[in-house]
Amino acid sequence: MKIVFKDSGKEAGKEAELVKGRTILSYLQELGIEINASCGGEGKCGQCLVEVECVPGALSEKTEAEEKFVRKETSKHTQRLACQSRILRTDEPVFVRVPRRTYFVLESGEYKEIPLEPFVHCEGERVFWKWEDVGECRGAIYGVALDIGTTTLVVYLIDLESGEVVSVSSRENPQTKYGNNVISRIEFAKTKTGQERLEREIRTAASKMISELVNANADPGRVYEIVVVGNPVMRDLFFGYSVESLGKSPYEPQSVEAVTKTAEELGLGQGVEQGVEQGVVVNPKTRVYGLPLIGSFVGADALAVVLATEIYKNPSEKICLAIDIGTNTEIVLGNRDRLISTSSAAGPAFEGAGVSCGIGGVNGAVKDVKIKKIENREGEGKYEVLFKTIGDAPPVGVCGSGLIDALAELLEEGIIDGRGKFKEVGREGREGREGREGGGGEKEFRIAETERGKRISLSEKDIDQLNLAKTAVAVGVKVLLEKYGGGLGVKDLDTVFLAGGFGNFVDTENAIKIGLLPAVEPEKVKKVGNAAVEGARQVLISKTKREDAEAVAKRIEHVKLEEEENFMEIFVSELYFQKYL
Ligand code: FES
Repeated sequence: MKIVFKDSGKEAGKEAELVKGRTILSYLQELGIEINASCGGEGKCGQCLVEVECVPGALSEKTEAEEKFVRKETSKHTQRLACQSRILRTDEPVFVRVPRRTYFVLESGEYKEIPLEPFVHCEGERVFWKWEDVGECRGAIYGVALDIGTTTLVVYLIDLESGEVVSVSSRENPQTKYGNNVISRIEFAKTKTGQERLEREIRTAASKMISELVNANADPGRVYEIVVVGNPVMRDLFFGYSVESLGKSPYEPQSVEAVTKTAEELGLGQGVEQGVEQGVVVNPKTRVYGLPLIGSFVGADALAVVLATEIYKNPSEKICLAIDIGTNTEIVLGNRDRLISTSSAAGPAFEGAGVSCGIGGVNGAVKDVKIKKIENREGEGKYEVLFKTIGDAPPVGVCGSGLIDALAELLEEGIIDGRGKFKEVGREGREGREGREGGGGEKEFRIAETERGKRISLSEKDIDQLNLAKTAVAVGVKVLLEKYGGGLGVKDLDTVFLAGGFGNFVDTENAIKIGLLPAVEPEKVKKVGNAAVEGARQVLISKTKREDAEAVAKRIEHVKLEEEENFMEIFVSELYFQKYL
């Protein structure tokens, strides 16, 4: 008998033979069906929820992890975590529906006007890349800026004759089904066909996005150059380089140099599903250029942020910090005299993994939190939580920006102390509908409730996870400041550029309060959106910017945090919520 995937968009109808003991997730991965498996199948993220129709006993019993995440049941369907459900019976079919989840991806950065001097140009009826004739001119000539994030892909389609961004598209990185961080991808790449599968998935996804953008455009044409940015693991998987060396000491990529291949070499434009492709939109001779890497886990995306923010041009007295907060946070500090960088493993807590109420930026995720104490005439009170969700949908969990707000509010209200521990539970806490829960095990603070009445709460364990994540970022900043020398301190920073999707949605003041961002005046923090893809755009349309990229990459020093002598000392000094100790 078979396992059949239904109602899942283009994947509907895919099926495979039932094999006892296999998880549903393993089928999804094998059949290339998109699913988010942020925790790598450990039952911790709750993002691999599927709806199952089968006879009793066809699947293993629900695990404890599933009881926590399953939200709605109907008489017909049972919700299950794909990673936890194993096939027990093979004599009756199992039907699975994979719900589509809309992720909110930050697509745009700030477009900066720069002189148009692309490598691709038209002369008469022909198109040239540098001096090479790459084909006949068939209408518009386009270029693509592609940002390959560990979680999301963003594509800009750019008219190379005007420099304008014609269209933008984004989607989840299809590799998330193999885990949500670069380490899990490196591990998967080590498996028998792992590297090949990861490469194929990312290129197929990019091809589809490009084809859809070009075909949807009123003036279809062809793409003649693609500029790619991404962290070292993402960039190298895209270009077909082994990422094995990034998984073992000294954790360096095979090469940090810029890379240029042709679309034909990478097989771009192939594997585009029928119905999407209407003529090949990527010329086989299209050049695909990957920006250089900086070192270890600081990649082409961080370099692109440096280019977009132009901190490398700043005069000596203007020292800036650029931070792109993510599972792997990249930080660059300096100006035209000196640039130093590091990466810090903040982990996925701010993306919702490993935090009991955490969830990614999906519909229904709590994104803003305010806690108010309401007192009666006797001075007794209870806490009221005001929150907003993405899409104004019923709450399903709390995403990164909501977690930062909740933490900052708990600290400000004195509900938790500087070590992240709940203070004594007072009467008001027990009585408050949204108040602290003192009994029944772990202390927690209720933020909201799901439609089914399940509590969405922040526990001390969750706070510990968030504490570690913010400390990792803070240590990175502090090490760079110390390393820069000259007694450089937070107060000397001219601007803190906050790049990336996560940074764009956080409340700056709250991020400073919890110590995720350095304690500068909030006005000094400038959110620059998806600066990585903007850097890629600039490199696509400007030869000068590309020369800058290659020169700047060579002079950015790279610091490995764990190799710093005083790493532990700095770690301890940044641990906990310093302002409230
Ligand atoms: S809970 Fe299944 S992959 Fe995370």
